[in-house]
Amino acid sequence: MDDARGVIEFDQVTKVYPGATAPSIDRLTMRIEAGEIVALVGPSGSGKTTAMRMVNRLHEPSSGTIRIDGVDNRTLPIEELRRGIGYVIQQVGLFPHRTVLDNVGTVPALLGWDSHRIQQRSRELLDLVGLDPSTFGDRYPAQLSGGQRQRVGVARALAADPPVMLMDEPFGAIDPLVREQIQDEFLRMQRDVRKTIIIVTHDLDEAMRMGDRVAVLQEGGVLAQLATPEQLLSAPANAFVRQFVGGDAPLRRLALARVRELPLIPLDVAHGQGFGLFVDATGRPVHWASGAPVTVTVELETTLRTAAGELLAAGAQYAPVVDELGRPVALLTTDMLHGWLNRPTEAMLAAAVTTTLAQAHTA
Ligand SMILES: Nc1ncnc2c1ncn2[C@@H]1O[C@H](COP(=O)(O)OP(=O)(O)O)[C@@H](O)[C@H]1O
Ligand SMILES: [Mg+2]
Repeated sequence: MDDARGVIEFDQVTKVYPGATAPSIDRLTMRIEAGEIVALVGPSGSGKTTAMRMVNRLHEPSSGTIRIDGVDNRTLPIEELRRGIGYVIQQVGLFPHRTVLDNVGTVPALLGWDSHRIQQRSRELLDLVGLDPSTFGDRYPAQLSGGQRQRVGVARALAADPPVMLMDEPFGAIDPLVREQIQDEFLRMQRDVRKTIIIVTHDLDEAMRMGDRVAVLQEGGVLAQLATPEQLLSAPANAFVRQFVGGDAPLRRLALARVRELPLIPLDVAHGQGFGLFVDATGRPVHWASGAPVTVTVELETTLRTAAGELLAAGAQYAPVVDELGRPVALLTTDMLHGWLNRPTEAMLAAAVTTTLAQAHTA
């Protein structure tokens, strides 16, 4: 089945570089599903790049096995292996004397496609990464911004339609102001192409944003935890992860959820509790039943982090939730935010069950 292509398995993979006394990757075992993005995150030197480069055999494991769709990657001819793996790095490495279209078509040309098919594919890919081929196709890399060059790098990596993409700090060189936008565009594109992606980053925010799951590596190349962003924050596996996600874990968790995900108080109920809202002629909230003015509103798509910030800034305990026309649809209170942060999550429940079972076992 075509959808199922691109499963990557690390099986007890260890890498000790020649002359090194300690492993750079230490018995790494993890399975990455087809179509999934796993973000590899950890401090500098924790072995992220090493782990990634063993997938396309830029480095060889000292022991253990990496399988792609069940096949040991050492058994494939290296060109065949790499044809199935797009590789994107920070210094994009575009050919400066070739046009954007020719850069994107590099791999198809190596594969011997005819020039019409290469042209067509390259234009399609530029479109996909948000660059208009008639505007950008004939430019040279030096005529592009850093963000545009990075998009060309992504288009080039996608050219042969590989099921797997490896991306090593791909957005690291991009201006922080446009980085989020490029990350969002990349995620939108991924919804169409559904590649299996390993993305290396030292930036936890980027890892949480991009990863369906996040793999946290600690010093010595040890996998500390592989989990969803929410699980990582609500149930860190050890002290290292707890420290790594930091004291602002509650704020990060709030950033992962949106107002519409809360059990909001419907307006008719709110009214019965004395939260009556008065609206103007256009239906926008003006003041409460008490006569106090409405100083802050939040939207359904607002993240809980932004909503909390707005409530704090306004010194308010509650705010109307409004639709895209600014008309109130429900009520949000600070208690709800506390309640949401303190609710038992699936990961915490699972941990509690495991502990209880272990205790029952030893008893
Ligand atoms: N080619 C190499 N030869 C020897 N040691 C290396 C090589 N590449 C990386 N290392 C060492 O392996 C460890 C992990 O490096 P790396 O995988 O680059 O970490 P990260 O990408 O997490 O910063 C570091 O101690 C680094 O010095
Ligand atoms: Mg690295």
